[in-house]
Amino acid sequence: MARKRDEDGEREELLDGLSGPDKQVSPKYFYDETGSQLFEAICEQPEYYPTRTELAIMRAHAREMAQALGPRICLVEYGSGASVKTRLLLDALEDPVAYVPVDISAEMLATTAEALASDYPELEILPLCADFTQPLTLPKPRRQPQRTAVYFPGSTIGNFTREDSLALLRKIHAEIGAGGALLIGTDLVKSRELLEPAYNDAAGVTAEFNLNLLRHLNREFDADFDLDGFHHEAVYDERQRRIEMRLVSDRRQRVTLGGETIRFDPGEYIVTEHSHKYSLDDFATLAASAGFTVRRIWLDRQAWFAVQYLEPA
Ligand code: AVJ
Repeated sequence: MARKRDEDGEREELLDGLSGPDKQVSPKYFYDETGSQLFEAICEQPEYYPTRTELAIMRAHAREMAQALGPRICLVEYGSGASVKTRLLLDALEDPVAYVPVDISAEMLATTAEALASDYPELEILPLCADFTQPLTLPKPRRQPQRTAVYFPGSTIGNFTREDSLALLRKIHAEIGAGGALLIGTDLVKSRELLEPAYNDAAGVTAEFNLNLLRHLNREFDADFDLDGFHHEAVYDERQRRIEMRLVSDRRQRVTLGGETIRFDPGEYIVTEHSHKYSLDDFATLAASAGFTVRRIWLDRQAWFAVQYLEPA
């Protein structure tokens, strides 16, 4: 399997985010093997509406999506995880040439690729273990595809600031070329009463997912976070239209990471994730700035979530 990670760079990036007063760690560090499994468990919590809502949209409209994408495409998926939604799409696509799942979790990627290979024996599967925000060298399928399409479900785009989303969309634009396409899932703006419980499930799975990030840093970056010294918090910021996930320090404490000391006051927190919510207008404007036109939009009945089909303008 192709694998590309820059561990020194990641250590620097982590220390950079943790050294100042506004502490932050990239949400990509959620996804070690345990984290990827915990995320799958979040998707099954009754309060977490995005996954089942997007799945319902896929079930209802995968045929129309496949029609828009056309025959013999190379399908590249950003943040493939367990590739559940992808199967709905693959089942509807006409003679896809190859499937390139891109994921940061090597374990998850290997498991998924294996399962797909046995269920889709005709399909060439070319897994790529990488951080999809970095420049990617996409593998070349044996058969010449009609076009390359990026599938970016799950509203993972919401993890990025508006500025970083723009950069990411531009990167996708360059990767797919003029004849390419993008099928993207976006979570839509809704009330705090619906949003906050989705990130504070009663069973505590999201809390565990959030805290597991510290366990991941302890293991991979030689850190010594005390998991009992932090707690999970998720709040909706109406002005910025985003959920902010935090790990709040319960006391004054010091932590070391890669030989450096990080100090926390009581109540001081690390921002671990932003989950931006879009209006359709907002998203169309963002897409246009990146050189895309939104050609089709599929919604659930309550208009909580949108799957959107974009082409280079
Ligand atoms: C995978 C980024 C879409 O923001 O809803 C779920 C991640 N974090 N619960 C989201 C997540 C906490 C999720 N995305």
